[in-house]
Order: sequence, then C-alpha cells, then structure tokens
Amino acid sequence: MNPHLRDVAIPNDWDRRGLPGWSYHSAALLELEKEHVFRNHWQIAGHVCDIPNAGDYLTMDVIGERALIVRGKDGVVRGFNNMCRHRGSRVVADSQGNCKNALVCPFHGWVYNLDGTLRGAARPRSFPDLDKTEFGLMPLDLEVWMGFIFIRFRDGGPQPSVAELLKPIEPEFAHYNAADMVPSWGIWTQKTPVNWKSVRDVDNEGYHVAMAHPALQDLYGATYFDEPFVNGVSRSFATYNPHAGRRWSVKNYVKIAPEPMHLPDYLKKAWVYYGIFPNAVLSVMPESVQFYQEFPLSTGETLLRGAIYRYRDESREQAAARYLSFRIDRDTMSEDVQLSVWSNESMLSEAFEGFYLSDLEYGVRTHHDHLRRQIPVLGLETAPEEKDMWNLNDALRSRG
Ligand code: FES
Ligand SMILES: [Fe+2]
Repeated sequence: MNPHLRDVAIPNDWDRRGLPGWSYHSAALLELEKEHVFRNHWQIAGHVCDIPNAGDYLTMDVIGERALIVRGKDGVVRGFNNMCRHRGSRVVADSQGNCKNALVCPFHGWVYNLDGTLRGAARPRSFPDLDKTEFGLMPLDLEVWMGFIFIRFRDGGPQPSVAELLKPIEPEFAHYNAADMVPSWGIWTQKTPVNWKSVRDVDNEGYHVAMAHPALQDLYGATYFDEPFVNGVSRSFATYNPHAGRRWSVKNYVKIAPEPMHLPDYLKKAWVYYGIFPNAVLSVMPESVQFYQEFPLSTGETLLRGAIYRYRDESREQAAARYLSFRIDRDTMSEDVQLSVWSNESMLSEAFEGFYLSDLEYGVRTHHDHLRRQIPVLGLETAPEEKDMWNLNDALRSRG
C-alpha cells in the first residue's frame, strides 16, 4: 500500500524565507499569538484514561489561562476554567488528582458539583441575594477524539470540530484503538529557553534527521518523509529498518518489538507523526500512542507538555519495546532542544537574514502560512513598532 495519505505537490518556486526574525522575540506579537492562535484553536489537554473515575481531574495552566478537566458522577468528561466564581482562585491546585464528591475552593470554601454547578457558598447567609444558578464554573469547549481530550479556551475560532479537523487521519489513526489505552508514565512538562515557534520549526521538518538524530536515522532514516500542513494537519511517516543496529536502544528495539497483529501491514513497522496546527503532535508507534505540544511562557521560553499511552493488555515484549522507543524519543528530544536553541539565538543577531528552506522543509513553510493567515503582520519583513502591532494586525485582518 502507498504509505502516503495525501499527495501534496511542492511548488517549483516558493518563498523559502520563513517568518521574519523579529517575530521570534516580539512581546506584542506573542499577545497576538495568544489571541488568534492559542485561545481559539483546539488544544490537547490529555486523554480520558488520565481521569478514569468520577471525581478524577487534570488541569492545564497555559498562555495565562487555566483549564480544569473533570469526570462527573455520570461518567461525562467536562472542561471548565479553573477559576472560582467568587474571587478567581484556582478551584483545584494540583495538576492531577481526585476530588471525591465535589470541588471545594481552597480560598473561602465555595463548593461546586462535579458537573460544574455551584452547590453552595461558605457562610451562605452572608450572600443574601446569591443566585446559585448564575455562579457555576465557566465551561470550556471540549471534544473527545479517539480518547484524546481537546479543549478550546474560546468558542468559535477558525477551526471546525476536532472530528472534522482530523478526519483525514482518522481511518489510519483508528487502527491503534487509542480510546482504549492507558497511561504509561503520566503527563510530563518541561521548560525550554526558546520561542515556541523555534520548537515547532525544528519539529516540522525531517531534513535535519540524518545529521542531528543518529538514532532515528539508524532506525528509519531511509524511509522517512513529510507531508506538509493542509487545513491544519500534517503527517510524517517512516518505517523502521528491522536490521538497524548501530545504536544500543535501536538495536534492541528492532529485535524486541513484537509483530503488531492488530495493524495493517504498512503500519506494522511505522512511526507516524500527525502535526495539528498550531502546536501539537499526535504520534503512533506499534506499541504506543503519544501527544506532545508546546506553549509560550514568554517570547524566550516555552513549556513542553506531553504523555505516552500504552495498550491495556500489553505483553512484556510490547512493554520493553515501548520503553526502548521512549529512550530513542527522549534522546531525539534533547537533540532537538539544542538545535532549537541555536536557531532561536540567531533571531536576536543583526546578521540574521531569515531562513533559506529546502524542499524537504516545506512543512515549516506551510505551518508559517497557517500562522500568517491568522496573524497577517507576520508577512512584514521589518518589525512594526510594538505599540502599533495590535492595531496594524487588526487592520490587515479586516482587509482579508
Ligand atoms: S475565591 Fe473561591 S471561595 Fe473565595
Ligand atoms: Fe528533530
């Protein structure tokens, strides 16, 4: 079978420059990114198996917003702003946990039901006019797709439903039964000292694999290819070489990984990465499924977040392969962190004249195109004044 999902022709003549250097360190631009790209686009919060029981919750603090995902007594997974309606405290403080029967705000003790409705204020007689029905937790848009929980901090936005957005990859992704998986090691976070776009730029192309990722190159370099972003989704595909083995982890991985009988032939040795605009990747391997994403903390610092999920009834061989693929991934990630630091530093140099992208980096271009569509000031080679950024962008947007 042809392992390509979509055949995207790379134009003969395209602008190879990438985004302007100023956009990697402008605080005013970062506010536009939060407004037009982060708050109103779907974000992966986790997986339903991270909160299997009633009262289980997880939280996500990103881009100045706080999400709370909680499973109700009725089994339904709901999303809210993690913000008490009394004075704005966090309703739960931890990143994950269980709250039994109710959410009790740690500030003054307002109590919310697991479905977000307000059960009652502490010392209710001090609020003679409180209408409880008006003070439930503020809900977030939430959609579960193949077990993954997607939220949106603001309704609407330019994307369709998650089901619609991910329709192109659904038939392939469905082979992995991700909805039935369980956590491997939980949700991780890590900080990295670069602009979030530098992280994404590195991840959006496989041109650097041969040079920068010796283990991946050994594992699957000969078969790797990228399909660029179209309507918010990209895909990268590779199949591992069963005879690879210059690296310890790779050699053992290809030796131990059992034949995954649940997968069609063309996926039996495949590692596939689905990019989801603006900032996330879902990836599948024969023994696991994972997500990772990045959020700006400031223009020069990024929060990386992700998790790996495994089959509920995995065999010992599958578990060993999953551990080895995690090791390979972990090395790859630290190599990528270094590359993104070096590339990002250059944006502050006067000598930086933009990228000059290869056809093998067309995925970077298509991601930038998606960003430019939402934030047209990114088309300006020279940095606008910080104070003018917002109005100028609004003006360009309304011109369409
Ligand atoms: S802020 Fe939550 S009870 Fe006061
Ligand atoms: Fe990489």
